[in-house]
Amino acid sequence: MSSILDLVRPDLRTFAGYASARRADVSGSIWLNANESPWPSPADPDGASHRYPEPQPAALRTALAELYGVEADRVLIGRGSDEAIDLLVRALCRPGHDAVAIAPPVFGMYAVSARLQGAPLIECPLRDTAEGFVSDLDALAAAAEHTAARLIFLCSPANPTGQALAPEAVLALCRRVRGRALVVVDEAYGEYSRVASLMPAIAEHDNLAVLRTLSKAHALAAARIGVVIADPRLIAVLRNCQAPYPVPAPSAHLALAALQPEALARTRERVAAARSERDRLTAVLAAEPCLVRVYRSEGNFLLARFRDAEAVFRALLAAGVVVRDMRAHAGLGDALRISIGTPAENDAVIAAIRSVSEAIAAGISSNPV
Ligand SMILES: Cc1ncc(COP(=O)(O)O)c(C=O)c1O
Repeated sequence: MSSILDLVRPDLRTFAGYASARRADVSGSIWLNANESPWPSPADPDGASHRYPEPQPAALRTALAELYGVEADRVLIGRGSDEAIDLLVRALCRPGHDAVAIAPPVFGMYAVSARLQGAPLIECPLRDTAEGFVSDLDALAAAAEHTAARLIFLCSPANPTGQALAPEAVLALCRRVRGRALVVVDEAYGEYSRVASLMPAIAEHDNLAVLRTLSKAHALAAARIGVVIADPRLIAVLRNCQAPYPVPAPSAHLALAALQPEALARTRERVAAARSERDRLTAVLAAEPCLVRVYRSEGNFLLARFRDAEAVFRALLAAGVVVRDMRAHAGLGDALRISIGTPAENDAVIAAIRSVSEAIAAGISSNPV
């Protein structure tokens, strides 16, 4: 019977990590065990910022577990999902040996973390079809079965391509590669999706991990709070690989405030607004003559191909609108990724793109602004 710990680097399976002062199981009223200042900071006279924070703030961990509908021992809090990705690669992949499999074009940090760890990268490109981008889950499974892929990163909804994976297909992949690879589903944009999350399946699949973040729908990108949800034994290993105090107290306070019922209700309203703006922008762009294709998106962004992407990019910049230029990515030579803004910001996008359509109609597409 294989265990999820079999996928962890052998040298880290029993590694206890750094024994920080806050992890010691002691109590008292005079704390002199961490070489902190005994006085509050002049910048924070009423606060407790002179003390190191809890490594995994218990109240925040409980609130996140409740939010995501899982047990607290399945949750690890980190500095954004970026740190979660890095921890997973470091804990599972021996440099030069265990590979990371991805489905490009996709969020760049999986490849960056693999590169930093010296882990080989296996690319199983998405297929661009009439229905949108499609993941080749067979090729990803084969990467685990026939080569040394130890980690398979799936992004759902996918950045930058917008599609979400059917949960049943992901679970079939988990079953197929069990004992060989961990399947990580990055749901950074999960709140915006019409497709169900994989989180409810975590308890039944020990080689499935889900990444969530407060950076997107919860509007706390600057607080750097991301979460890995996985088997408790894997969470314990990741915790031992993490920095001693990974969650700054001000970020933990902000995050906890964002998870109170009134804040969550406001967040839900904003997610609904973003989804409705996404659908409006999709429909408006689809009718623009300068557009080649806009992909259906389950995230808070749109990937669009243009007849003259350079002209559109420049027209947007001239209107003060900065979008993500995707043209350097394989297969996206004519594409831009546009985040969904406020209705007024989206109107600015529409106006700039219309100006390019008008310039094309007037025969001056090479210099529309
Ligand atoms: C798919 C995906 N995962 C993770 C991240 C990083 O999120 P965080 O801010 O939690 O590090 C991003 C950021 O753009 C992303 O697009």
